[in-house]
Amino acid sequence: MSEIKMSGRLVAIGMLALAVAVVGLAGCDLIVLPGPGDGGDVGDGGDGGDGGDGGDTTPAEFTAASVTRGGAMYDKWWKVAGVDAPAETHALWATRSDTESNTRTGEDTWRCKECHGWDYKGVDGAYSSGSHRTGIAGIFGTTMTPQAVFDLLKTVHGFGTAGLSDGDIWDLAKFVLEGQIDTDEIIADGLFTGTDLDGGQSTYDASCSACHGADGLTVPPGGPDDFDAFVGFLSNDNPWEFQHKVRYGQPGTSMPAQAGLLTVEEVGDLGAFSQTLPTEAQ
Ligand code: HEC
Ligand code: HEC
Repeated sequence: MSEIKMSGRLVAIGMLALAVAVVGLAGCDLIVLPGPGDGGDVGDGGDGGDGGDGGDTTPAEFTAASVTRGGAMYDKWWKVAGVDAPAETHALWATRSDTESNTRTGEDTWRCKECHGWDYKGVDGAYSSGSHRTGIAGIFGTTMTPQAVFDLLKTVHGFGTAGLSDGDIWDLAKFVLEGQIDTDEIIADGLFTGTDLDGGQSTYDASCSACHGADGLTVPPGGPDDFDAFVGFLSNDNPWEFQHKVRYGQPGTSMPAQAGLLTVEEVGDLGAFSQTLPTEAQ
């Protein structure tokens, strides 16, 4: 986080945020990456004499970027960008603090969600245990600037050499900074907490049933014959994944993103209704 440039005016706020962040992160297994600006930058903000403080300028590419496309890439970026899936295991995979729980290799290790979770909370969230645990921190509530996120993804995370264009990476940065939600607002103990089931059903009938059927057991258009990630199944099996797929669509298929159309509360009600649907073909 030290690569964030702060103007003198913002240092006090920044220190406060940092203090909060440190308190918030205490106790988790942090993997600290060497950032490009580590070491020398911290004292540089003091003079306050330079008018053009880079940290305050939002790059035009970020402003123009697509949060929904970025959200779909967070799920499986190569399907969205139309590039080859990586063959090798991601370089950061070997640095995970827990190498026992999650034994995946190859392309799976390149999905943002595999390291940071469907709830964006990494080891502090749903991936705090189980076969997806890596010990890697989440990205929810990151205080990085757009440029810093872009640089991190392009270079430290290796997405530039993996085949993503600058435009793709700006879309990812847009999602990181503007597309995440706090899933705790709609999910508790694996259950959607929405209480308006009628509203959830109305949303389902209007936005989902044409492709998934009234009971969620229809194979959607283009889906494989053995499709079994039915609406009732996935919403119960992994509500965090379900909310992300609802909001950003299924990468590389016709399933549309709802993030710009439904409020977080409406997604919560839709999830609660979906959890009442049958989980498998009767
Ligand atoms: C192989 C695992 C892995 C993958 C895949 C991965 N990351 Fe990361 N990411 C990390 C690690 C490790 C860190 C450093 C976290 C820490 O400090 O513990 C990190 C840090 C970050 C941060 C900085 C958060 C902060 O405030 O410090 C962001 C943002 C981020 N990743 C976004 C992404 C996005 C977006 C993708 C997909 C395009 C992605 N990551 C894919 C491992 C991964
Ligand atoms: C235009 C058609 C269409 C609409 C509308 C649609 N979906 Fe989908 N959905 C798909 C397709 C296509 C797939 C992927 C099938 C495959 O595996 O190839 C899919 C996949 C899914 C999956 C499984 C994801 C996985 O991991 O395999 C779930 C769950 C789902 N949709 C729920 C919903 C919900 C809830 C809505 C309403 C908000 C919705 N869909 C709207 C077409 C649609």
